[in-house]
Amino acid sequence: MSKHYSIIVGSMLGASEYVADALAKSLINMGNTVTIHNTPTLEDVKDEPNWIVCTSTHGAGELPDNIKPFAKALETADLSKVNAFIIGLGDTSYDTYCFGALMMENLLKSRGATLEASAHLIDVLEHPIPEDEAVMWFERMLETA
Ligand SMILES: Cc1cc2nc3c(=O)[nH]c(=O)nc-3n(C[C@H](O)[C@H](O)[C@H](O)COP(=O)(O)O)c2cc1C
Repeated sequence: MSKHYSIIVGSMLGASEYVADALAKSLINMGNTVTIHNTPTLEDVKDEPNWIVCTSTHGAGELPDNIKPFAKALETADLSKVNAFIIGLGDTSYDTYCFGALMMENLLKSRGATLEASAHLIDVLEHPIPEDEAVMWFERMLETA
């Protein structure tokens, strides 16, 4: 059954944007529709049931700047109608590996969202083309859903 997906992007340097674009392409090929939110706001996605949050980690384990206001707004949101996947990009040479994605996972769960799977963390040291890994994982998730 075709669905509409909202891809919510947290990115400083563009890698997570490439991942979002690749996921969108794959979903559209499967007959779905997609909106990519590179400057996400709660207002834009609060009535959308299918979220894919795709975020890197920057600073000392922080979310990228573009997604911080969105994360803040989620702290008081009712997400009980939201089904979400989370994909995290990070680098295992940091002690704070993928803390941004893990923070989003905790936040979504605490606000009542249904997580379709545990956050999928992608180490960019191991996967220099993270979009390939992300699409492979996501297609596997949809097959088994
Ligand atoms: C200044 C800086 C800080 C970073 N801090 C972290 C971190 O705390 N944890 C982590 O897992 N990765 C960290 N990374 C790695 C990025 O998350 C990784 O390079 C990612 O692919 C960047 O994706 P983006 O281009 O979408 O922002 C950091 C990278 C930079 C340049």
